[in-house]
Amino acid sequence: MINGTVIYFAISLVSMLFFSGIAASTQQCSAFCVCDTWYDLERASCVGRHLYNIHTGAPNNVQALDLSDNVISLLTSFELANIGFTRLKYLNLSKNAISEIELNAFDGLADLMVLDLSRNRLDDISAEVLEKNKNLRILRLSKNNFKSHIPKLRSSSLTELSLDSCQISHLPLDTFNGLKHLRRLDLANNLMIQMNAIALQTLHFLKKLSLEGNPWSCDKVMLDLKMYLRNKDIEFDEICSKKGNVRKFEKMVVLPTMTRNYHHSKIANPEEPKERSNRIEMESNILNNKTLSTCQETANPTLVTDSVAYWFLFLGFILGIFSRQVISYIWLLGMCLYNRRCSLERFNNGFSISREPSLLSLDGRMESDGSLSEFYPNTPPPAYRDVMLQPSLYRYPSRISNLNRDR
Ligand SMILES: *[C@@H]1O[C@H](CO)[C@@H](O)[C@H](O)[C@H]1NC(C)=O
Ligand SMILES: *[C@@H]1O[C@H](CO)[C@@H](O)[C@H](O)[C@H]1NC(C)=O
Repeated sequence: MINGTVIYFAISLVSMLFFSGIAASTQQCSAFCVCDTWYDLERASCVGRHLYNIHTGAPNNVQALDLSDNVISLLTSFELANIGFTRLKYLNLSKNAISEIELNAFDGLADLMVLDLSRNRLDDISAEVLEKNKNLRILRLSKNNFKSHIPKLRSSSLTELSLDSCQISHLPLDTFNGLKHLRRLDLANNLMIQMNAIALQTLHFLKKLSLEGNPWSCDKVMLDLKMYLRNKDIEFDEICSKKGNVRKFEKMVVLPTMTRNYHHSKIANPEEPKERSNRIEMESNILNNKTLSTCQETANPTLVTDSVAYWFLFLGFILGIFSRQVISYIWLLGMCLYNRRCSLERFNNGFSISREPSLLSLDGRMESDGSLSEFYPNTPPPAYRDVMLQPSLYRYPSRISNLNRDR
């Protein structure tokens, strides 16, 4: 009896949870958004709806708002707060077309902890834009195009910042001065040649730094950086340890000399290493990013291009032989079809016994006769297919003529 009650109770509890779960995960809370609970947060997901602004109609008490994969291009001041999204802890604006963020765009979002602005078209962000979001911990800025305008953000709370794949070529020494609590910093897959350890000296809590995928020059500055990171016990992926890195740099150095004319002022003092690296950075800005990424991906680019060249040579050779064969076949065939003698000779193959031993002697005889056409005036040329299918019947070219003549 007790068992029955327990089982009944358990079943109803499970089904209740199940159905409420289903209901929560599929609830359409506006024309563009689906609402559910996620990590104990009330979430609205408005993903991939071609939204061009943040007015989604989602309930304004949501704590997590996912607007990724839309076409939002601008965030105006107080826009989020005015809609009422003041409880937001998580805001995902990844994969949009944002090229401008106004100074007070995130004002009034006091609880915001995670902000994803990756995969947008940002080329600049003002330093103060996140200063008032005192709870912001994680900021993603990957895959934007900061180039030389790397943002000098100020945030006393930020612990994690990703700036990977942003085409950053140069890191000013004071870039991270406003981010005292940073623990993880991602600078991978940029276009940096050098990074001075001084740029990290204000980051007393830094635990992990990602540097891979940059065309590092691997000189003294980089050795110092590695030493600094080791001393401070900061985790980082090994750089400048393989030969491949040196090769990348060599490639980078070779390229600028080809476009030297554009930078007369920059090569005024080639001895000075700083000048040189500046010049290389300028060049790397100009170079198309595809070239650069190929440099980075293939450890030994010259070898690859060489082997490709050999392959082309080889292919050309094979193609040449093949086409020569085909052309000579066509030529021979053409000759045969054109030359009546040839076709008749083929037709002659393999009928009865002949007094003529060979084609040559037949030719000679026909020549002496001087009346080739009278020999076999009504014989059609053999079907090519027949010749092919029954070669034994057509072996001796001279015999049919004799047969015909005898007949
Ligand atoms: C934001 O959304 C994108 C695409 O939907 C996803 O890849 C990314 O992980 C999300 N960001 C965060 C911080 O969760
Ligand atoms: C290279 O630039 C084009 C636009 O100019 C961009 O679409 C592409 O993602 C960039 N590629 C890399 C590897 O940065």
